[in-house]
Amino acid sequence: MAGREIEIGATEDFPVGVFRILELAGHSVGVIRLVDGSIHALRNHCPHKGAPVCRGIVGGTWPPSEPGELAYTQAGEVLICPWHGYEYDIRTGRELFRDIPTVLRKFPVRVADGRVLVTI
Ligand code: FES
Repeated sequence: MAGREIEIGATEDFPVGVFRILELAGHSVGVIRLVDGSIHALRNHCPHKGAPVCRGIVGGTWPPSEPGELAYTQAGEVLICPWHGYEYDIRTGRELFRDIPTVLRKFPVRVADGRVLVTI
């Protein structure tokens, strides 16, 4: 079944690094613009225990590393769930660092003439 495309505003309505949470066709959806200008729409529901995940912290992460080799990566591209701290890659929706990762549901986004459109 084809989705329904919904216009949600201008690109400037989405500040970099901050989720805006919208109700779209009965879904709570978090929309964010990353520092590279790309815009992403995620279902505001953590697959672990159902938290409103888009109310979590946006930042980077510390991947596993050898002693003395800590490296902070993916700054501004990781969403940390507010309930239990699972970390998700905003670009892919995939949870980081678990053997069998859960995945956030993403909705397709496109920009046309400066307007943002999400397919639900
Ligand atoms: S509900 Fe998101 S990590 Fe548990």
